[in-house]
Amino acid sequence: MKQIKTEKDIAHMFDSIAGRYDLLNNVLSAKQDIRWRKHLVSCLPSGSDVRFLDTATGTGEVIKTALDQGKQFAQVIGTDISDGMLDLAKQKITAPNVSFRNEQATDIKEEDNSIDGLSISFGLRNVVEPLKAVNEFHRVMAVGGKLLILEFFKPKSSLMNSLYTFYFRYVLPLVGGFMSNKSAYQYLPESVQDFMTLDELCAYLIERGFVIESTKNFLFGNCGFVCASKVSQKS
Ligand SMILES: C[S@@+](CC[C@H](N)C(=O)[O-])C[C@H]1O[C@@H](n2cnc3c(N)ncnc32)[C@H](O)[C@@H]1O
Repeated sequence: MKQIKTEKDIAHMFDSIAGRYDLLNNVLSAKQDIRWRKHLVSCLPSGSDVRFLDTATGTGEVIKTALDQGKQFAQVIGTDISDGMLDLAKQKITAPNVSFRNEQATDIKEEDNSIDGLSISFGLRNVVEPLKAVNEFHRVMAVGGKLLILEFFKPKSSLMNSLYTFYFRYVLPLVGGFMSNKSAYQYLPESVQDFMTLDELCAYLIERGFVIESTKNFLFGNCGFVCASKVSQKS
């Protein structure tokens, strides 16, 4: 399998699976991904003055879920590095206060302290420099703003880790390969194994000037969620 190392490789991989991405997500998670995103959205601020940015937005599922749940925003921005994913997001969501653009999570074209809600769902693990992205989130977020991260993590229990490894290593590439691009679905388990744990992510958020408001485990800890608030201006 070709090693996926650069943002260009990642964007190319997501371009190649964009058309089947939503369907495969639903199939491979037995539609649990919908429930997990709804939980994320329930923690988003809402109001006519709220600016919301969803980075690694993919096909725009988080933004769609937020609008479907009746959340109000002054402005919504979806960013991603895959034009294939962004094209689908633009087709899916045409509300006048929503815009999409090709942009790195590590280099957000927004002013300091200007975003009230920032989410990244199943994206941080794909970012080549995830801690740099967290620093950038801190820069653009307003004090009191909410950072919402949903991600796959290595489970803590060894039994669950074995089951998870089996599912991700064998079942997922098989189904993903049959319905889409096999190497992309081989990449998923590797990216999870290489990624930090939820506890390590929370520790880094605290170090950067966030306070942890809540965390939640789904799927026996295979999927984790954290809601954090920015409490300080420190950079
Ligand atoms: C697994 S998809 C998640 C999409 C969506 N957030 C969801 O919940 O379904 C990961 C997305 O992260 C994007 N991505 C990867 N690296 C990125 C980066 N450095 N900056 C912005 N987006 C990135 C990919 O292009 C892809 O669309």
